[in-house]
Amino acid sequence: MRTTVGIIGAGPAGLLLARLLHRAGIDSVVLEGRDRAYVEHRQRAGILEQGTVDALRAVGAGARMDREGLRHDGIELRFDRRRHRVDFPGLTGGRSVMVYAQTEVCKDLIALQLKEGGPLLFGAEALAVEGACGDRPRVPFRHQGREDALVCDYVVGCDGFRGVARGAFPAALSRVFERTYPYAWLGVLADVAPSHDELVYARHERGFALLSMRSTSVSRLYLQVPAGTDAEEWSDDAIWSELQRRFETDGWRLERGPLTHKSVTPMRSFVHEPMRHGRLFLAGDAAHIVPPTGAKGLNLAVGDVVTLARALVHEKETGSADLLDAYSATCLRRVWQAERFSYDMTTMLHPAPDGTPFDARLQRARLERIASSRAAEADLAEAYTGFPLE
Ligand code: FAD
Ligand code: DHB
Repeated sequence: MRTTVGIIGAGPAGLLLARLLHRAGIDSVVLEGRDRAYVEHRQRAGILEQGTVDALRAVGAGARMDREGLRHDGIELRFDRRRHRVDFPGLTGGRSVMVYAQTEVCKDLIALQLKEGGPLLFGAEALAVEGACGDRPRVPFRHQGREDALVCDYVVGCDGFRGVARGAFPAALSRVFERTYPYAWLGVLADVAPSHDELVYARHERGFALLSMRSTSVSRLYLQVPAGTDAEEWSDDAIWSELQRRFETDGWRLERGPLTHKSVTPMRSFVHEPMRHGRLFLAGDAAHIVPPTGAKGLNLAVGDVVTLARALVHEKETGSADLLDAYSATCLRRVWQAERFSYDMTTMLHPAPDGTPFDARLQRARLERIASSRAAEADLAEAYTGFPLE
């Protein structure tokens, strides 16, 4: 099989990249190891930055999002039984975010790709990336029990944290920056209207809790739990009681409903530099991971592929590889800002198991600073609603 851009992975990064290239008249093939149902139902992110919303609209994938997504103009920080609302538009010159699940973004992009895009092969597992430094890189893959190979001008590894593309970088070139956290998130979906109309980020001595949503009738809730926790250790009743305690404040009640999904997400910060080796590019989780507090993972993936598509189109139209050469450095500037923000939000809101009383006081001081300084609040609002693409 031959194509211009071989894309490994049909998560948000790979699917959006294929769509951006299709609209620019550049052909691509997407190889996805899992089946369609798995990709469409994997529970993950839920918050889209303004720039992500704009990118989806620009490729014609915004219609259902605009009908069913929920525009959010702020979040609530809850600590010491206090409530503080951060107003995004007022602090950022009009920016907001959209609640629209990653599952739905993937469904919309898959439907468009199958209708009018290039080949998207499910159950097609890339085995390696070969010849990244030559002018015809190759991706051997296994599809329906048969081995084949994709020969391309460029290969893009959009294959997530556990994909194969990153492994094709020579060890002498790769630099990894990493941090793991001693806690994880137990996430649930509940068939009950959200108990608040905006997201609530709560710091409590017993641990962090987050109230989010997927629609006006489905709540998404998270609890900080020790790293390595098995979701089945938590009964539905224990989850609701713990959520209730961590969100507690006067005059507010957490509504309960049937839980339809339960899973544990580990927390990690990870950056692989550089994001390009010869004709191989990395995008999204294949290159970087953030802890989920602040909802940056999916949005970073979108930023990467918008930058890469622009560079590939520039090369096609002008013959200049300048933007491709700048790809890694351009993305990494934004990636590190998101790493910083996600780390700050995570360490401000999660009491660490080995945390001291000093650490707890500092967390409270950081929250009080945001609640009392417009500059500190604006800093959070700007980062939350998204750093602009260069
Ligand atoms: P992915 O979505 O991981 O897609 C990679 C794709 O590549 C997958 O479909 C995979 O099957 C495929 N693949 C892998 N290897 C191969 C191969 N060898 N051959 C072919 N295909 C391959 N972010 C937030 O902002 N908020 C959240 O609440 C949040 N929750 C998360 C919960 C979990 C459990 C996880 C793992 C992540 C979460 N994230 C969250 C992060 C966010 O979902 C990711 O940043 C986002 O999915 C990145 O998109 P991506 O396309 O780069 O990678
Ligand atoms: C969601 C996830 C996040 O990491 C976050 O900060 C906010 C919302 C969510 O899944 O809805």
